[in-house]
Amino acid sequence: MWRINMDFKRKDRSLVWAHRGASGYAPENTLEAFKLAVEMGADGVELDVQLTKDNQIVVIHDEWIDRTSNGKGWVKDMTLEELRKYNYNKTHPEYEHADIPTLREVYELLKPTGLTVNVELKTGVVFYDDLERKVIELTKEMGMEDRVLYSSFNHYTCVKIHELMPEAYVGFLYSDGAIDIAQYAKKHGANALHPALYNLQFPNYMKDAAQNGLDVNVWTVNEPEHLVMASRMKVNALITNYPDRALQIAQTYI
Ligand code: G3P
Ligand code: MG
Repeated sequence: MWRINMDFKRKDRSLVWAHRGASGYAPENTLEAFKLAVEMGADGVELDVQLTKDNQIVVIHDEWIDRTSNGKGWVKDMTLEELRKYNYNKTHPEYEHADIPTLREVYELLKPTGLTVNVELKTGVVFYDDLERKVIELTKEMGMEDRVLYSSFNHYTCVKIHELMPEAYVGFLYSDGAIDIAQYAKKHGANALHPALYNLQFPNYMKDAAQNGLDVNVWTVNEPEHLVMASRMKVNALITNYPDRALQIAQTYI
C-alpha cells in the first residue's frame, strides 16, 4: 500500500520550503529560483499553477502576466507559445532573462534532487477545466507521487484532489482568522493547515491542529524573528522566500 512520504513530515526540525522558489533572490516561480532553492539546501519548494489556453500547466502566481513579466494579459487567454514570448524576470531584473516554466519542466528539474514539491492550485479566480486531474496525471506520469503535496485556497479543489487521489497529502490554505479551522479542515479530509503567518497568534493554534491530526505548514515566513517564533512553535514547514536564512534558523531553534 502506498503511504504518505515522511519527507512531508517534520523530524528533528521544521522543514524549509522555498516559496515560489528562492524568490527572495531570483525571479519568482522560474527555473532559476527553483535551482537556487536546491543549491541552498531547501527541503522543498512551493509553486503556483495556472492553465494556458492550450491546456498546458504553467507555473506562475497571478492569473495574468503583467506583474512578473514584460507582457500583459491573462494566462487563460494565451497559448504556451504566446506566453513564452515574454521575459519573466520582472521581480528580479538583475537576471537578464527568465522563462515561464511548465509544471513538467519544474518536475524534471527537481526529480533528481529529492526535494518535495508543494503544488498550489490557483483555482480561486479562474475555474480552470479539470486542473486538479491534469496536475495529478502529470505527477503520476513523472512517478513523483511520493514527492508532491497539494494545496489551494479553494477548498473544493482540495477535496477534489482527495477524490481523485485518496492517498495525496493536501493542505488547506487560508489567510484571515477562520473559526474552528482545524475542525473544518479535518472534516473535509485535510492533512495540513497552510495558514498565513499571523494566524499562529491565535491561542492554542498548534494544539488545535495537532488534536485534529493536522500538520501546520506556514507562509510566508521571511523575517528572522518570525522564523525563530515559528520554529520554536514546531511548525511542520516554513514556507519562505529565503530558504538559506530559514534553514539556519530552523537548525538552531529546534
Ligand atoms: O502556498 C503558500 C502561499 O504561496 C500562498 O499564498 O499568494 O503566495 O500563493 P500566495
Ligand atoms: Mg503560492
